[in-house]
Amino acid sequence: MFLRLRSLILYTISLSVFGLFIYFNKEPKSTLQSVTPDKREAQKQEFIFWAPPKTKPIQCYPDISTLNISSSIPELHRLFLMYKHCRNFSTLLNPGKCDKDTFLLLAIKSLPINIDRRIAIRNTWGKRQEFQNNKIKLVFLLGKTEANIPAQSLDQLLSYEHREFNDIVQWDFIDNFFNLTLKELHFLRWFNNSCSHAKFVLKGDDDVFINTYNILEFLDEMDPNADLFVGDVISKAIPIRNTKVKYFIPYEMYNKSHYPLYAGGGGYVMSRRTTQQLLGIAESTELFPIDDVFVGMCLEKMNVTPQFHAGFKTFGIRKPVNPFDPCLYKGLMVVHKLNPTEMWIMWSLVNDRAMQCAQSKKAV
Ligand SMILES: *[C@@H]1O[C@H](CO)[C@@H](O)[C@H](O)[C@H]1NC(C)=O
Ligand SMILES: *[C@@H]1O[C@H](CO)[C@@H](O)[C@H](O)[C@H]1NC(C)=O
Ligand SMILES: *[C@@H]1O[C@H](CO)[C@@H](O)[C@H](O)[C@H]1NC(C)=O
Ligand SMILES: *[C@@H]1O[C@H](CO)[C@@H](O)[C@H](O)[C@H]1NC(C)=O
Ligand SMILES: *[C@@H]1O[C@H](CO)[C@@H](O)[C@H](O)[C@H]1NC(C)=O
Repeated sequence: MFLRLRSLILYTISLSVFGLFIYFNKEPKSTLQSVTPDKREAQKQEFIFWAPPKTKPIQCYPDISTLNISSSIPELHRLFLMYKHCRNFSTLLNPGKCDKDTFLLLAIKSLPINIDRRIAIRNTWGKRQEFQNNKIKLVFLLGKTEANIPAQSLDQLLSYEHREFNDIVQWDFIDNFFNLTLKELHFLRWFNNSCSHAKFVLKGDDDVFINTYNILEFLDEMDPNADLFVGDVISKAIPIRNTKVKYFIPYEMYNKSHYPLYAGGGGYVMSRRTTQQLLGIAESTELFPIDDVFVGMCLEKMNVTPQFHAGFKTFGIRKPVNPFDPCLYKGLMVVHKLNPTEMWIMWSLVNDRAMQCAQSKKAV
């Protein structure tokens, strides 16, 4: 009953949005009247930009027994527990398989609304398409937009991006912080199905600057069939028990005093072997709201030790250093939090061959 009501409401909202769209469209009547072949052709062109028809979502019912868990935990955490067993969502947009000779897959977590960041990445550090005659593939990992954003127009935009750049993987779950682990799991499945020939994977956020040159140079010496997991690794991280902090985790979800070793989710690299093994373990591991900790839990089960590398700055750069010193960026691999403009500036500086830096290679 509840579900029927919900779909009815969703349907009504969709209809209203569609109605508004038609109303504000300059030539609303042309879609209804009989049209000349020319016009029909034009309409077809237009129509391609519409999002594909929705597939029926996979049914998964809340686990009522979790309601018993202490009422002291915040609403979102309770919601997470109630839906934690729902792990299978369908793929809405898929760029298809990677080439067999893919050297590096850049898999970047993005939100449907972050078009500006995707544009910046496609045109800066994500632009390079080959390395020593092997391919570099860029994909963005997306869920569905949360309901308070006009979903229909975003779907249209994504459909356009998908056609134009063929770099969007989108799944049928709500894209929010608590569902990032779901994104991780679905990414690993996608990798296994569509990109398992890629030698290495860089997984990152859409607000990081990645020095692709340094990453490629670093990976060139590595073996894709050996265990490899490198990033900004933290040891003995303490779970946050303060409900006001975004990363709050109640004892009901994690009762140990420390998290296992894990790398900041802003950007890390791993070998094909590690990525494939990660899927096997992730399938049998309970979801955890913090995705990078979840990966750390899986690595621990796999007996793979994530390696720390000073070139990965996913937790930001400490104060004394000028965060916009381009020479700093020349020596680094991953730096978080840049807005699209800063990304363009950094890219132009890093690419400026005339710039003299004392030390330009790995900052170990
Ligand atoms: C809730 O917990 C109580 C005891 O703490 C137990 O008797 C009851 O069966 C539980 N209910 C559910 C739905 O798990
Ligand atoms: C998800 O799919 C797997 C296999 O495809 C199945 O074993 C599992 O039961 C499914 N889980 C749910 C909650 O539907
Ligand atoms: C994750 O996505 C699913 C499917 O869209 C949704 O039902 C669920 O509420 C989301 N989880 C959280 C914690 O928001
Ligand atoms: C911690 O949680 C696990 C299951 O998640 C449970 O088996 C264990 O008894 C708990 N330990 C304590 C000290 O509560
Ligand atoms: C990876 O994909 C293959 C087939 O493409 C499948 O047989 C295998 O079970 C998958 N691995 C995991 C861990 O799901």
